[in-house]
Amino acid sequence: MPSSVMPTPEWGGGSQSPAAIIAAGLRKSYGDKTVLDGIDLRIPAGSVFALLGPNGAGKTTAVKILSTLITADAGEAKVAGHDLATDPQAVRAAIGVTGQFSAVDGLITGEENMLLMADLHHLSRREGRRTAAELLERFDLTDAAKKPAATYSGGMKRRLDLAMTLVGNPRIIFLDEPTTGLDPRSRHNMWQIIRELVSDGVTVFLTTQYLEEADQLADRIAVLNDGKIAAEGTADELKRLIPGGHIRLRFTDPAAYQAARHALDEVTPDDEALSLQIPSDGSQRELRSLLDWLDAADIEADELTVHTPDLDDVFFALTSNTNIPTQSKENAR
Ligand SMILES: Nc1ncnc2c1ncn2[C@@H]1O[C@H](COP(=O)(O)OP(=O)(O)OP(=O)(O)O)[C@@H](O)[C@H]1O
Ligand SMILES: [Mg+2]
Repeated sequence: MPSSVMPTPEWGGGSQSPAAIIAAGLRKSYGDKTVLDGIDLRIPAGSVFALLGPNGAGKTTAVKILSTLITADAGEAKVAGHDLATDPQAVRAAIGVTGQFSAVDGLITGEENMLLMADLHHLSRREGRRTAAELLERFDLTDAAKKPAATYSGGMKRRLDLAMTLVGNPRIIFLDEPTTGLDPRSRHNMWQIIRELVSDGVTVFLTTQYLEEADQLADRIAVLNDGKIAAEGTADELKRLIPGGHIRLRFTDPAAYQAARHALDEVTPDDEALSLQIPSDGSQRELRSLLDWLDAADIEADELTVHTPDLDDVFFALTSNTNIPTQSKENAR
């Protein structure tokens, strides 16, 4: 297990890839309610970062600060190399933001929404029309382009939202809950679009309520709780932080099963399935020592599987103020 997965912000580049977003000590309060209580971030260019947290944790607040919509009470941040406090204009020019709530104007058509964005980005008429047509096509909205956006389904509006965000060809995009309310197919389509953006080198800062989404898309995930980042790391690193992981050995030979069962400490046996469950953090070291031990004892399992807690377990463990059990679903069975 890594001794620490907390971020270590470095303002210099060093040997690490350049940071698209870097923040240190960001704070924000509303009245006497502290929403962000010192947030540090370092998000490498071309990566996907997911911010998770329960309702009201401050995800949207963090997005709004980093995209210059509101100012922090304290702390500093650079986005695309520009200081948030001294050069917000340059930050704005480099980013795109798809807010949690739709920016689509329902009274005009999808195409008109796009052209409006093109105007805001000072594209020429010709360039604006070309960009709008291209993006509408890419987001499968060409057929609906001439209909008032108010008649669009939730998924279509969300796609139009993202298409509008991309008009200025931003290199860093903030997506605040991009797939909330989408059906599974639309969600997978949105993931595909996000992956394509990233393969073009775009940096994505994403907030989400869907842990699977973070698991699927994000290079790194931070869990926001009580105004602080409770943990940060890859999905796998986060899963290793909490108990519930185990290795399962399955046997077809009852004699081998019995031998292993009696020789191993701390196992949970399942006599019917001829399987043994051994607590483990899933690390290479633990796996190797188990395999070495099996070899030495001349016991051969027919199947070995490593089970790590899923991100739901991590989320509950890190964000619950009450005592929600942190056992993995596998263990609870
Ligand atoms: N303009 C404001 N004035 C007062 N309080 C605010 C304001 N904006 C946000 N808050 C409070 O700050 C806290 C964090 O809100 P925020 O919208 O950042 O949460 P969130 O993590 O995005 O939640 P959700 O998952 O519901 O979108 C909440 O308690 C909210 O009520
Ligand atoms: Mg929010």
